[in-house]
Amino acid sequence: MAKLSASILTADFSDLRETLALFERHPAVGWLHMDVMDGAYVPNISFGPPVVRSLARATGLPLDIHLMVEEPGRLLGDFKTEKTEYITVHQEACTHLDRALRQIRDLGVRCGAALNPATPEGTLDYALGSVDQVLVMSVNPGFGGQRFIPDALRKVRALAEERSRRGLSFQIAVDGGVNADNVAEIRAAGADIIVTGSAVLDAPDPAAELALLAKNMEGADVCV
Ligand code: DX5
Ligand code: ZN
Repeated sequence: MAKLSASILTADFSDLRETLALFERHPAVGWLHMDVMDGAYVPNISFGPPVVRSLARATGLPLDIHLMVEEPGRLLGDFKTEKTEYITVHQEACTHLDRALRQIRDLGVRCGAALNPATPEGTLDYALGSVDQVLVMSVNPGFGGQRFIPDALRKVRALAEERSRRGLSFQIAVDGGVNADNVAEIRAAGADIIVTGSAVLDAPDPAAELALLAKNMEGADVCV
């Protein structure tokens, strides 16, 4: 069964409790997706370890931490909390990807590798056996509220095929531009974790939009 990973990036940061409650109430939400941006790897700055630690205390949801930072190997320990389930680093941001993935596992946390829209899935060929999640970016990282890049679906299908061919079990996540209209197609391509942000939080009725997104995700015909 696919699950949503709910991003707080476009939430009202002066009232995060309301956003947390919205996500915690819906059974399709499996994680709180935390987009950490350093202003160097991506042209935006979001929040860092103190905010992650506070939110870990404030939520019942496990954390799915997406690090959009240069050389994240320097900082990984700062993102381990009692709620951290995944830490994902960008393939493009790591000189030593294998080392960073091992560091995450050594923290007792599941590790993920993210791919930007222009990065082929083949760059993870030698990492697929040791990752718990591959995060396919379906927008260029840095901002919420961007339009979904359809080529991401081809990448998801290729990863799903490779996973089945090699008998691997990593989760495939899709991040960026997901909405109630495209979520079924994303799920059908083989995504297991679907990140949602502005489509829900910027909707006139966020709870109704979340329910619609979850319904459309579950109604999808999965092709893999
Ligand atoms: C973009 C982030 C995404 C983003 C998703 O760099 O990684 O997680 O918050 O937000 P929407 O759903 O608005 O594209
Ligand atoms: Zn993200």
